Amino acid sequence: MRYSGLIEKYRDRLPVSADTPVISLGEGNTPLIELRNLPRILGVDAQLFVKFEGLNPTGSFKDRGMTMAVTKAVEGGAKAIICASTGNTSASAAAYAARANIGCFVLIPEGKIALGKLAQAMMHGSTVIQIQGNFDDGMRLVQELAQDLPLSLVNSVNPYRLQGQKTIAFEIIEALGDAPDYHVLPVGNAGNISGHWMGYSESVCLQTEACGLCQGACPYHPAKARASKRPVMVGNQAAGAAPFLRGEMVKHPETIATAIRIGHPMSWNLAWAAVRESGGWFNECSDAEILAAQALLAKHEGVFCEPSSATGFAGLIQDFKAGRIRSGSTVVITLTGHGLKDPDTAIAQSSKPHVVAAERGAIADLISRHL
Ligand code: F0G
Repeated sequence: MRYSGLIEKYRDRLPVSADTPVISLGEGNTPLIELRNLPRILGVDAQLFVKFEGLNPTGSFKDRGMTMAVTKAVEGGAKAIICASTGNTSASAAAYAARANIGCFVLIPEGKIALGKLAQAMMHGSTVIQIQGNFDDGMRLVQELAQDLPLSLVNSVNPYRLQGQKTIAFEIIEALGDAPDYHVLPVGNAGNISGHWMGYSESVCLQTEACGLCQGACPYHPAKARASKRPVMVGNQAAGAAPFLRGEMVKHPETIATAIRIGHPMSWNLAWAAVRESGGWFNECSDAEILAAQALLAKHEGVFCEPSSATGFAGLIQDFKAGRIRSGSTVVITLTGHGLKDPDTAIAQSSKPHVVAAERGAIADLISRHL
């Protein structure tokens, strides 16, 4: 059967009815790619998988939540949506609003979003408002504006966003046959880690530890239990924007990973619950570690994610070095957005192309020096 998006696939586990007008671009169903080379190169004894969310319709995981948020906004009669964004939410909101034929207003921090994301928001016809402030300022403003104006707020404080985002856990459990031992991801506004945890939690029998894959034999077993356990959740932040590790909000967040340049995460309590209940932890990664992790994935696995996305992998490398990951474990890393979103950062850290005469001999010379 033709895949037609995550609402159709998981409608029995999402708050939709037969009459809900589904707004979809075929999001979800992203590949779970096993890393073949990096475990050997890093010398780690573990099975590592990346869930490549950069392959969603607008190039990031935001589409999972946006299909739900825009669908429910349209169902409720909304004529326009609004969000604050570090880039990906605005790109996704703009695309789904275009699809739904409704208006879209996006607030972005001036000069601090990656080029591809800005191009998307502009191209899809949203009203792009660059504010002279950061994401946290924008978040406060859109919450105020949505109270007074006829606008549906589609940031992850909108509960339908997390409903859509939880489906990533369903897909991973289907692909692996169970939940992984660890799930590692970047954290900014903290909606995504909360959505992951919701999805994993809805997939297990929480009533009894011993239940395992009881196939419904236990009297408490929920109808949809599909996994024997939930993973340990590990949240990773950029060092200049790491309120979770610091235990307090950060006033002036700063990092090259602009998507997670956030000091005041909205889903603070939910994210702490995910980490505490799962026995997990938070890491912080320097910009240099983030860029190194991005390059490792691109150069050794052929997977090009944006810097913020690589923050999960950067944190995992720290965890392996510190011996925090049990050997023989299965680890899933969410790569939240595509590398093409931020060509400037990619080009700035790569070696420059060679310039030679358009002549066979010169090119053959160059090749032989590199063979
Ligand atoms: N990775 C990428 C590529 C992101 O765009 C974001 C968030 C995150 C990770 C963090 O996810 O906020 O759920 O903890 N981007 C938002 C935006 C804030 O506006 O695009 P989170």
